[in-house]
Amino acid sequence: MSFRLQPAPPATPNRCQLFGPGSRTALFEKMAGSKADVVNLDLEDSVSPGDKDQARANVIAATHEVDWGKKTLSVRINGLDTPFWYRDVVDLLEQGSERLDRIMIPKVGCAADLYAVDALVTAIEAAKGRQKRIGFEVIIESAAGICHVQEIAAATPRLAAMSLGAADFAASMGMQTTGIGGTQEGYYMRREGQNYWADPWHWAQAAIVAACRTHGVLPVDGPFGDFSDDEGFRAQARRSATLGMVGKWAIHPKQVALANEVFTPSAEAVAEAREILEAMEAAKARGEGATTYKGRLVDIASIKQAGVIVRQAEMIAEG
Ligand code: COA
Ligand code: MG
Repeated sequence: MSFRLQPAPPATPNRCQLFGPGSRTALFEKMAGSKADVVNLDLEDSVSPGDKDQARANVIAATHEVDWGKKTLSVRINGLDTPFWYRDVVDLLEQGSERLDRIMIPKVGCAADLYAVDALVTAIEAAKGRQKRIGFEVIIESAAGICHVQEIAAATPRLAAMSLGAADFAASMGMQTTGIGGTQEGYYMRREGQNYWADPWHWAQAAIVAACRTHGVLPVDGPFGDFSDDEGFRAQARRSATLGMVGKWAIHPKQVALANEVFTPSAEAVAEAREILEAMEAAKARGEGATTYKGRLVDIASIKQAGVIVRQAEMIAEG
């Protein structure tokens, strides 16, 4: 075991990130009034090239004018392969209010992508005397991104969160899929005349969680495109939560409650976690490292697992 302690990720609720196009100003107040922990105003792929300048101006105005309450306010800038991204960063940081918490960088491929944006942001913050240091979040949504996920997670102390972007990821990988996240028709095991669906996103998710946990970054599941399929969303979100992700995007307001439901530990789960901690306290007092709880083995690792659930619940209650 490494002597280095695993760093804790930012202690901020991140169960749901609600997206909306920067070009649709009518949605901003609705997003602010939603139950999402994070709001992501988009300048990238939900905004057409001809609307980029107007969307940027809308988003800058919204950092001043909209009451975002306690939400984390994030703006998704354009990718580093476009002519738009530098203007997004410069105008947001020069003209946007201090209310802005994060900028989200899409399609990152290597640590140097974050270095470039960090250099620009750091210079503007100093030049403008900005008081609050802007955080970053990134989307892993390319073959290069997943190959370099560890160096990306370690790239800058500004990095708060990392999401899997299933649709662009699938395209970059050459996957034969069209659905955005969730079950894919072609990905199944077959036995005794039955199809059993498996999860084509599992590897990428687990790689993201491992990189994030190593470097104190929040791992987040990205979009689920079919917003008429509540059970499909829940199933995808539950798999993500089980693997260690802390939240999921909503690309329609009806998905917010679903994400909050899955990523808020249930009262029963919290009560059970507290009981496990108590059982282990009692075992410790008896000089034992392991004991029995409801017919199952619990040991020192169980304290850590139960601690994760209790800490999540406390943070959400405070949020
Ligand atoms: N945030 C907050 N409210 C939203 C919303 C959003 N992202 N999308 C829609 N709404 C509101 C609508 O204004 C409408 O409100 P009303 O009942 O007061 O009229 C209500 O929710 C129902 O909307 P609906 O008619 O079902 O959706 P739509 O056709 O207006 O929009 C989408 C559907 C998918 C185009 C829209 O939700 C959207 O743009 N989502 C985000 C896309 C995005 O940002 N993508 C980038 C990340 S992948
Ligand atoms: Mg994308």
